[in-house]
Amino acid sequence: MPRPRLQTVIGSTRPGRRGAAVATWFHALALDHPGFDAGLVDLAEVALPLLDEPHPPQRGRYEHEHTRRWSELVSAADAYVFVVPEYNHSYNAATKNALDYLAREWRGKPVAFVGYGGVAAGSRAVQALLPVVTSLGMLPVAGSVHIPFVRLSFTADGRFEPAPGLDDSANGVLDDLLRLTAARPTAPVG
Ligand SMILES: Cc1cc2nc3c(=O)[nH]c(=O)nc-3n(C[C@H](O)[C@H](O)[C@H](O)COP(=O)(O)O)c2cc1C
Repeated sequence: MPRPRLQTVIGSTRPGRRGAAVATWFHALALDHPGFDAGLVDLAEVALPLLDEPHPPQRGRYEHEHTRRWSELVSAADAYVFVVPEYNHSYNAATKNALDYLAREWRGKPVAFVGYGGVAAGSRAVQALLPVVTSLGMLPVAGSVHIPFVRLSFTADGRFEPAPGLDDSANGVLDDLLRLTAARPTAPVG
């Protein structure tokens, strides 16, 4: 039986973003995890414009090649981890735009989050994402990974050095995600 496909999504698209290094760290743990076939998706490379499809995504009638490509990429996964920064007490706009583009592709799929930022450790970003992914019919796991004062986890030469315990936290989320992925109905929900 093939292992479920997990996509870790780099949510930040900003030049100089810390999110790429954080997501690369998480992706390495996902690659080591025996339960998943892991991939990394970078929203900066996907480069979606602000939603420019004329039809609601629920219909799956996409007019643009960038949407069809994004639909194929998302459809290929069984579960997702969004690595999201906290911007203005919420998550970043590129992540919302990427979610809004599609509908059926997300439905019924487990999802987890790695949030990072300042004092709130990305918790407000993750809290703001929960109703969004739930409305899309996704299945969020109970726990998430949080990184407070993310800049302090970077060395002077730009390497991400996870704080003690963070690997365990990430592996716990991967385990929860795998349990949910194994338990989910095979037919899309809703
Ligand atoms: C537009 C913007 C708004 C931000 N707002 C918050 C915030 O509300 N709370 C917080 O903890 N950090 C905030 N930060 C700090 C970011 O979480 C931190 O800079 C992080 O590195 C951003 O992720 P990125 O580097 O991957 O883009 C903000 C940063 C930016 C660029």
